[in-house]
Amino acid sequence: MSCICNQFSDLKFYPFTALNHKILAHFCRMFEKLKARWKVNTINLILVIATFALGGSLCGYAGRKILLLTGLEKGATWIILYILLVTLLWPLCVLLISIPLGQFKFFKNYIIKIGRKMSGRREKKKTNLLKIAVFASGAGSNAEKIITAGINCEVSLIVCNKPGAGVLNIAANHQIPTLLTDKERFFNGDHFLPELQKHQIDFIVLAGFLWKIPVPLIQAYPKKIINIHPALLPKYGGKGMYGNKVHEAVIAAGEKESGISIHYVDEIYDHGEIIFQAACAVTENDTPETLAKHIHKLEHAHYPAVIADLLQKQNHS
Ligand code: GRF
Repeated sequence: MSCICNQFSDLKFYPFTALNHKILAHFCRMFEKLKARWKVNTINLILVIATFALGGSLCGYAGRKILLLTGLEKGATWIILYILLVTLLWPLCVLLISIPLGQFKFFKNYIIKIGRKMSGRREKKKTNLLKIAVFASGAGSNAEKIITAGINCEVSLIVCNKPGAGVLNIAANHQIPTLLTDKERFFNGDHFLPELQKHQIDFIVLAGFLWKIPVPLIQAYPKKIINIHPALLPKYGGKGMYGNKVHEAVIAAGEKESGISIHYVDEIYDHGEIIFQAACAVTENDTPETLAKHIHKLEHAHYPAVIADLLQKQNHS
């Protein structure tokens, strides 16, 4: 769906039509973000939105009816009582509506989450947030999405092996410490570990980092290192398969779809257990560059949400 949306945003027709397409593309992107955040498919998203709308109307209606029974005159007290009533009734009404629409489980969890936030029982205080290191050596667009996504964690370190890489500017803009490493330091037994321990890193996210992760690091962070690959693994992965090379191979093979794979990192390139995949169509007109654009949008839409999900599980384990 996001690929279809991307096509809309690229269209340039007459001003009015172009405006319509822009609005449509904006809504498509919003839908994709909500789907990723709430981890639902398109049908469930529509049902969730319908539940919100119907639940909201029901609690407004019920609030008014209850106040009518009290015989109170409309005025400031009436409005205050109405707001109070609606706030109290809202969870009930939404839960009620969610039953026939098959969304009870979603809303039960949603309301529990809001309740936790309101009662100030945040799962972890800022000082106790999980600390993640992002390893990146390219433009850093994924790193930036992760930093700005509002995930319940602290991006404490950017590890990079390429002086002048765009990701270093992004780190500087967000005042995140960087570690520019060279091969000697990185692959020297477990010598790199203390660098991460110094920053108390709990979790490692690879986002455009081309070096193989040394075994001591994998052993020190079991199931705590993840990578994103710009294709549907297990196809088009492995040594030398990165950037446009992946997209060139996908197009040359005449694939009708490509996508992204988020996976745990093990000792073999692009091989660890797959956590999440999302696909998009490859059309006859696609070039490695246009496909790369579609893939990047998929990555930006999903990588932060998947990381947030994994960190939440870690917090509870
Ligand atoms: C992404 O396409 C990712 O799949 C791959 O490297 C690229 C990094 O892009 N591993 P950016 O530097 O985040 O823009």
